[in-house]
Amino acid sequence: MREGPSPVSAVPRVLPPNDPRQYDDLAAEWWRPDGAFAMLHWLARARAALVPPADRPGALLVDLGCGAGLLAPHLAGKGYRHVGVDVTRSALAQAAAHGVTVVNADATAVPLADRCADVVTAGELLEHVPDWPRAVAEACRLLRPGGLLVLDTLNDTVLSRLLAVEIGERLPTVPRGIHDPRLFVDHRQLVAECARRGVDLRVRGVRPGLRGTVRWLARRMRAAAGRGRPQSTPAGPAPEIKPTWSTAVLYQGRGIRRG
Ligand SMILES: C[S@@+](CC[C@H](N)C(=O)[O-])C[C@H]1O[C@@H](n2cnc3c(N)ncnc32)[C@H](O)[C@@H]1O
Repeated sequence: MREGPSPVSAVPRVLPPNDPRQYDDLAAEWWRPDGAFAMLHWLARARAALVPPADRPGALLVDLGCGAGLLAPHLAGKGYRHVGVDVTRSALAQAAAHGVTVVNADATAVPLADRCADVVTAGELLEHVPDWPRAVAEACRLLRPGGLLVLDTLNDTVLSRLLAVEIGERLPTVPRGIHDPRLFVDHRQLVAECARRGVDLRVRGVRPGLRGTVRWLARRMRAAAGRGRPQSTPAGPAPEIKPTWSTAVLYQGRGIRRG
């Protein structure tokens, strides 16, 4: 695939799959509820629902791969200090503007103390990290005994490649080229890695609600055709992320760090 700046600045550059510079090119999309990262908004809400209110004053939640801080509004009122770690500076600037204390670092080498966190989240991160077991090790290292790990990611299956990449990246819910399916995360390996690091992770499959997604896509298509609301305004309720029987595509994990 071609790489590097385009000779015409209006033409988007084409970067290799999973190249983090894509997040710079898409920086204006993060907080558009109907933009290229729309599905991350739906997933952030579902992830936050797995995080209980803090059980002590000053509790710390470390959000690995926090992006532009889409989790922040869904944590409001739960009582956490929200620290976000990410490699993309342009995203961190937006996270900071939404109240997140930001750390520009790789999730595989986080400059925070052992056992500092009451909660660690890793939302749609692991499938972007070539050495994801190292990121899992860091997540578990940061957790205090009794602390909670919450994550969601894409499974390493043929169905996941088909739905999340071949089909998903042709829909307006997922930017094209953002994934490298070779990095997708087998759920059994993830559970084993967490267990080795002292976290008993339970996983469950999730998916966007069908009816809500179809309605959302229809609204998006109307807007794109200029007949509906402008794309930059919320056009209606977002689809819900629902549990499903299979972990074969998208799944959430939740686990407590042993003492
Ligand atoms: C799909 S986005 C998810 C962002 C956020 N968790 C959310 O759900 O809105 C993936 C994020 O992971 C970040 N990222 C990718 N590799 C990383 C790494 N090795 N360490 C830290 N952040 C990373 C990217 O910069 C991007 O912000």
